[in-house]
Amino acid sequence: MGEAMPAASKDVRERVKHLREEIDRHNYRYYILDSPEISDAEFDRLFDELLELEAKYPQLVTPDSPTQRVGALPLEKFRTVRHTLPMLSLNKATSEEEFFDFHRRVLELSGALEEKMHYTVEPKFDGLAVELVYRKGSFQLGSTRGDGTTGEDITINLRTVKTIPLHLRPDGGKPPDLIEVRGEVIIFREDFEKLNVAREEVGEEPFANPRNAAAGSVRQLDSKITASRPLKFFAYGIGLLKGKSPTSHYRTLQYLSQLGFKVNRYVELCEKTTDVVKHHRLVLDRREKLEYDIDGTVVKVDSYNLQSEIGELSHSPRWAVAWKFPPQQETTKIEEILISVGRTGALTPIALLKPVRVGGVEVSRASLHNEDEIARKDVRVGDTVVVQRAGDVIPEVVKVIASKRTGKEKEFVMPPICPVCGSKVERPPGEAISRCTRISCPAQVKERIAHFVSKGAMNIEGLGFKTINQLVERKMIADPADLYFLAKEELLPMERMGEKLAINILSEIEKSKTTSLARLFFSLGIRNVGYHLAQVLAKQFGSIDNLRSQTVESLTAVHEIGPVVATSIHNFFGDPRNLEFLEKLKKGGMKFPVEREIEGSLPLTGKTFVLTGALEKFTREQARSAIEELGGRVSSSVSRKTDYVVVGADPGSKHDKALRLGVEVIEEAEFVELMETHGGRVRPGL
Ligand code: IVH
Repeated sequence: MGEAMPAASKDVRERVKHLREEIDRHNYRYYILDSPEISDAEFDRLFDELLELEAKYPQLVTPDSPTQRVGALPLEKFRTVRHTLPMLSLNKATSEEEFFDFHRRVLELSGALEEKMHYTVEPKFDGLAVELVYRKGSFQLGSTRGDGTTGEDITINLRTVKTIPLHLRPDGGKPPDLIEVRGEVIIFREDFEKLNVAREEVGEEPFANPRNAAAGSVRQLDSKITASRPLKFFAYGIGLLKGKSPTSHYRTLQYLSQLGFKVNRYVELCEKTTDVVKHHRLVLDRREKLEYDIDGTVVKVDSYNLQSEIGELSHSPRWAVAWKFPPQQETTKIEEILISVGRTGALTPIALLKPVRVGGVEVSRASLHNEDEIARKDVRVGDTVVVQRAGDVIPEVVKVIASKRTGKEKEFVMPPICPVCGSKVERPPGEAISRCTRISCPAQVKERIAHFVSKGAMNIEGLGFKTINQLVERKMIADPADLYFLAKEELLPMERMGEKLAINILSEIEKSKTTSLARLFFSLGIRNVGYHLAQVLAKQFGSIDNLRSQTVESLTAVHEIGPVVATSIHNFFGDPRNLEFLEKLKKGGMKFPVEREIEGSLPLTGKTFVLTGALEKFTREQARSAIEELGGRVSSSVSRKTDYVVVGADPGSKHDKALRLGVEVIEEAEFVELMETHGGRVRPGL
């Protein structure tokens, strides 16, 4: 037994209680109302006194004490949680017309009179949706939205967010037995800038935008890291509520505010559609001046009775719509056009821009996709162009402002040799992509290795792009098979490498020698073979030798394998360099599995996606490979079996069909979020 705890007198207990109430009250005034009553020093004195008393009388420490926001031990991984009620997504409107289409539908479905249809209009935050469960007023469980049905348990991280109360305030009366509060975790722009400056100072990669920073921060396994990030929470709705429930959305928001949550000040109850339009415009007008990123407004039917009459589709309510703002555009100049080389040797032209702020983020590069795109838009070096940033990821050159031409602009010519290795560049007839022909080109090599070790492939943890870069630059490896010949002594002299990390990496590499056939097929990086097809091939052919002996015809006979994929596979095994590579893998200790069954599933196994409309942040190929890496598949047409339709700009008939069939429609930002939730990522290719 340790030392006996001193008993806490009634006075001490009361003082502790009083201190907690005071601290909570001052926190509330400071973080929620933005109107502190006391100085920081005075606040610190109260806090320190409480800390001291709790140290002396540990039996008085309660999980909802303001001192207990940080302190949980790091987790191995997040537990998954099923939401009691699904966290739905929103259909979108991109114009006033589309808002009125929504309005008409709502009237039709409810049979209500125009004057009875009131809406709340509020900003659409660009952050991460979470759910907070409070039992008897105390914060119990916090989770990410995930796929809407199940998310991840991030309670210990959300406890560190000061705008998330650990217990509900008494202003709302006796707390309900249970309330699920929903809202968005965001980072304010100014905090984001500071965070990035601090990261760069210590040599860490800056975050691309506040949304990514927020999403990355709440998904930290070590809650101390989350605690160091300036996260904020805006409440915008509820899930289940056991207790007396408000009768409308607006009242719910007022109630949430009484319970101690931050509710946005631009929430407006509108009795007429003209007011909806007015408020939408007002928010759009303020957009740039707000302290945080938003990408539209959300218009919700206010009355809960009307909401339930109007109803919900399986993935989105029919009583709400996300009315998106037009994408953010700016003009700037192209200073140079560079080439980046990907895994398959594809050469992607990238415009280096005179840095410009677009929607609060500095943009200095934009994708030009390929030669044909450049020709179509007639983009030249020195041109003044319109660039667009649609939320995040890769900005794009929308068009050239031809009237700004001086005559000094230079046309872009695809280099005949690879800028990385100097080998010949080829553009096969009928294709838009030019490729470096040297399989050992360092740029390709790095990308191929990154693919080989990625989650859906060999899943070798600890080998990030920086390490791969070093391994290749130091000529320690020239292809993925070389990984199996690495020795600890070789790794140790590398930058940022320690004994422990080296041992970890080697044991991860060792583990990958006994992998499944589907992973092996996928990791080979055969063109057009994503994870889903790798699974199909594994099931169908059972071994690598069998796959190798197939003809284009016998491959095409397999359901889901068309002539393009069949030719890719056939060509892959027809290339002696690839056969050598397989031999080398074998020598390195890789066990080539023989199996007939589909192996263990990935997070998106069985899920079908349809991509439609002009995707702005990444190419379809990038979206496809992100999906396939997680085991999902992409189909070209929408049916009842489709799980998600990812929509870009001007989506057209597939979007309509999805709405008709009740298939979940998600936007690019939500798609990125979905991928990230499952541990995947969309590679922007820059
Ligand atoms: S309400 C049933 N309100 O939008 C309604 N969502 O497409 C569901 N979002 O993942 C959500 N601001 O992250 C609602 N004021 C707001 C919002 C909002 C941002 C996000 C949320 C969700 C996505 C739904």
